[in-house]
Amino acid sequence: MSLSTVAATVKSPNGNIVLNFTVDNGRPTYSVTYKGRDVVLPSHLGLELAKDKHASNGLKERDLMDGFTLTSEQMSTFDETWQPVWGETRDIRNHYVQYVATLQQQWTEASAKAGPGGMQMRPAIHQREIRLCFRVFDDGVGFRYEFPQQHDLNYFLIKEERTEFRMAGDHTAWWLPGDYDTQEQETQQTRLSEIRSRFQQAVNWGNSSVAVFSPTGVQTALQMKSQDGLYINIHEAACLDYATMHLELVDHETKALSTKLMGNSNTYTPNPAPSNYPLPQPFTFVSHLTPDATGLKGCMQTPCETPWRTIIVSDDARDMLSSNLILNLNEPCKLEDTSWIHPTKYCGVWWEMIVGKSSWNYTDEFPSIKLDNIDWQKVKPNGRHAANNEKVKRYIDFAAKNGLQEVLVEGWNVGWEDWANLWKRDVFDFQTPYPDFDLKALNDYAHSKGVKLLMHHETSSSSQNYERHIKDAFQLMNRYGYDAVKTGYVGDIIPRGDHHYSQSMNNHYLYVIKEAASHHIMVNSHEATRPTGLCRTYPNLVGGESARGTEYEAFGGSRPDHTCILPFTRLQGGPMDYTPGIFETRLSTWSDNTSWARITIAGSLALYLTMYSPLQMAADLPEHYEKYDDAFQFIRDVACDWDKSIYLEAEPADYITVARKAKGTDNWFIGGKCDENGHAVNLHLDFLDKGRKYQCTIYADAKDAHYETNPKAYTITHRTVKQGDVLKLREAPGGGFAVSLMAL
Ligand code: NOJ
Ligand code: CA
Repeated sequence: MSLSTVAATVKSPNGNIVLNFTVDNGRPTYSVTYKGRDVVLPSHLGLELAKDKHASNGLKERDLMDGFTLTSEQMSTFDETWQPVWGETRDIRNHYVQYVATLQQQWTEASAKAGPGGMQMRPAIHQREIRLCFRVFDDGVGFRYEFPQQHDLNYFLIKEERTEFRMAGDHTAWWLPGDYDTQEQETQQTRLSEIRSRFQQAVNWGNSSVAVFSPTGVQTALQMKSQDGLYINIHEAACLDYATMHLELVDHETKALSTKLMGNSNTYTPNPAPSNYPLPQPFTFVSHLTPDATGLKGCMQTPCETPWRTIIVSDDARDMLSSNLILNLNEPCKLEDTSWIHPTKYCGVWWEMIVGKSSWNYTDEFPSIKLDNIDWQKVKPNGRHAANNEKVKRYIDFAAKNGLQEVLVEGWNVGWEDWANLWKRDVFDFQTPYPDFDLKALNDYAHSKGVKLLMHHETSSSSQNYERHIKDAFQLMNRYGYDAVKTGYVGDIIPRGDHHYSQSMNNHYLYVIKEAASHHIMVNSHEATRPTGLCRTYPNLVGGESARGTEYEAFGGSRPDHTCILPFTRLQGGPMDYTPGIFETRLSTWSDNTSWARITIAGSLALYLTMYSPLQMAADLPEHYEKYDDAFQFIRDVACDWDKSIYLEAEPADYITVARKAKGTDNWFIGGKCDENGHAVNLHLDFLDKGRKYQCTIYADAKDAHYETNPKAYTITHRTVKQGDVLKLREAPGGGFAVSLMAL
């Protein structure tokens, strides 16, 4: 961008990040630098609109792509410190410089019809106004489109958002194939120029819902690293009443209106630019929204705005993990009373079903079931139903004994006989327990031991069915004393043709969160859209999945570096219910499942620190933990809410080391997790309080530990430490360590 055309230069509070904005031949254009180095080269902003069939003139709505003039500008600064209900730190500073550009688009439309009495009508003059709002922080930039209410922009339909992010080089990227329905894929690490050739291989076509759209389509949060060592992360914040954004890369092979289709039927033609605009330069990402069942990408009514598009940048990878930019771009908490929201450690009747040793369903008697037609007292049990009174009591006892607050029970309610991937509308009622699950007695038993049951609502993606039942389902939870629900969206969405990440489904997830809040229920949503920091506004959204979780260790396994990538990508928008803690990693030793978890026991302990979440599961079976009770001590002790967090080391896909101070105490916990190569670290305990002593317990990989050949070899050592001491630790391949520091 030549200086003469720059309309505005906006510097972050410390001056490291600079945003330039201009209107280039009628097209809004921005660029970003970090310490003088290019992060985003001049990139266009705009939206392509769809023809509105309700519009009186029947004409295609004019796109919001070009023909703009800058009519006014506003610059302001903001600096506030706020306290999250739960989080990685007690205080979060929200400090930015804001620049708002008001843009006007004006055009004349010749009248198609003659007026009354054959009189020629005067051409109509249309005038529209939009605003582009940029917030420039020290750790990145957020911007969004704002649409004030006006006659010429009232209701409108989005065909595609055309936000460009032009990268300055062929960066290394950690990416997932862009998909309208799933994120449960292994992250790929390639140069941008290699995304196309890796793409087919990157897709696990066996996932229950796969809808990729372009051979260079990727998901956000996308983590990149430039050849000169800049870490760049693109994602979004506050995705509300809008479709989830993917990115489509323009590379050297991209051609305008390419017709190349992908290797399955559920795919779309790549379309990185509208036909009447030039193709962006290679290494430009263009936004690609998730369509709904009609193919539309947004149905808008002004006044409204898009989510924030976010670019986090630093020359230090640790800053990617400590950034609060996405939370800061979300609205403050909207819940008046948050006293009922609490960080939770839980166990659950879960892993044994995932592994295939027991079942969610009660009977194998029928080819399919209709909920109203079955007398459950009379059906023949299959003998494998896990959510039975005896077993649930055993889990409750285990939770009570080990200080875990809740017990998740899946498969408690009727309908699991034919629940998945059948597009079955009336799949669950979320009310009726199986005959061997005594809803009242089990909740009473749990409460008598100071434990709560954690509700499970698998919707099987039948979102309308869930909405029909949700009030009754939440009332039932209130009646029996549940205060948290794990929801699930396995399979293709009903209404058919809709997608997990569309505007309509995003509205559904939000409806569930709000309805849950009004019943004082915390939500942990599996298979829902990826988070965008909404937990600031609705802190009862305590967790989510939206990535490949621990369950995949039973479905063939995930690479050992998987958990060293997720904090850079999936966790940017909010915590993940990763369900860590697998100690018996060789599943064949206790089941018929030949899969195995690619992690050591010490590495599993580390995940309670490196994968931040206020909701942490101890996912393995009680009898497995009982065998390694000395290691389980760490899970008993570890906090899941923090006053301070200090990322000591980080490199995507290699290692992460973090120290955290437990909320309201003087105790610290440190976790380090590494990839398949192992890692050595000298931990400088400089952050401890001066003059104070700490009882330090170190859970480390044994010398010969290895995620594949010797995952259960760990050592536990105790010593007293003080500020300035150094712990020398070695992480095995696929391993890690965990340290507790209890103030004396
Ligand atoms: C997939 C979820 O990720 C898993 O945790 C759950 O057990 C199953 N769906 C069944 O709801
Ligand atoms: Ca899942």
